[in-house]
Amino acid sequence: MRRRRPDGPPPSVLLWYETHPVSDQPLLELRGVSKSFGSVQALTDVDFEVRHGEVMALVGDNGAGKSTLIKCIAGIHPMDTGEMLFDGTPVSINNPKDAARLGIEVVYQDLALCDNLDVVQNMFLGRETHDRFQRLKEPPMEAKAAQTLAGLRVTTISSIRQAVATLSGGQRQSVAVARAVMWNSRLVILDEPTAALGVAQTEQVLALVNRLAEQGLSVVLISHNLHDIFETATRITVLRLGRNAGIFERTKTTQEEVVHAITAGKPTKVSGIPGTQGAPA
Ligand SMILES: Nc1ncnc2c1ncn2[C@@H]1O[C@H](COP(=O)(O)OP(=O)(O)OP(=O)(O)O)[C@@H](O)[C@H]1O
Ligand SMILES: [Mg+2]
Repeated sequence: MRRRRPDGPPPSVLLWYETHPVSDQPLLELRGVSKSFGSVQALTDVDFEVRHGEVMALVGDNGAGKSTLIKCIAGIHPMDTGEMLFDGTPVSINNPKDAARLGIEVVYQDLALCDNLDVVQNMFLGRETHDRFQRLKEPPMEAKAAQTLAGLRVTTISSIRQAVATLSGGQRQSVAVARAVMWNSRLVILDEPTAALGVAQTEQVLALVNRLAEQGLSVVLISHNLHDIFETATRITVLRLGRNAGIFERTKTTQEEVVHAITAGKPTKVSGIPGTQGAPA
């Protein structure tokens, strides 16, 4: 069933996953998605699925079509062909607002945080709450930001009123993720969240990704780093040259097998998303 976020801020600071049970039905299903840019065929007949509470890694070489697929889900690019189901219901996502209404949030690689604004201002950017005199409702905004960060156990930020320019890369990434999950999110898509981070900060962000899934959110993690993927993913979808090249259960595969699929795996149509590798064409 398609659930809509109520207009305006929710009445309480409870997050979506605190109020809704987790079911077995896939949260997001894409079937037969194709997308071209002029003469470039970026995606051909791609299937993709994300279950409730799973971390689905999306991997593939440069130009494999990962970002294009995410942008189709986020309403930035229209699909040429294919269908999308959310909670089992066909949906058409024509712009980022449609995606947000369904609870789909994307954290892009450049983060799009404003350096000169503080943590609270960044988390509410474009979604500020005002009183009837159009004054910002600072105390409830602060409380909600603090509770969201605490709920994700982001504890290293000394003040939520400090400018994000003063935060480390890992802390900034944590703020971006917290901002994404604060809005009744159900699916959080992270495009290369650890690409610019050092070892300790990477571990911090990966722990955060694991916590999102533990709390019932679904996560799509785009990464070129197999270590990150094997530390967090439930399953791994491989794209190669814009086509499905395999879906792997993390506990039943090896890094070698995934690398093979990325670099030399024969592109296959994965019908019905069986969730195992070596699916018949
Ligand atoms: N806006 C666009 N206009 C034209 N071609 C595009 C556009 N976006 C992507 N492409 C092409 O589509 C193909 C897939 O690109 P995409 O960005 O989805 O790959 P990717 O898997 O995200 O790669 P990377 O790992 O390098 O980020 C590439 O051949 C790319 O050149
Ligand atoms: Mg990309």
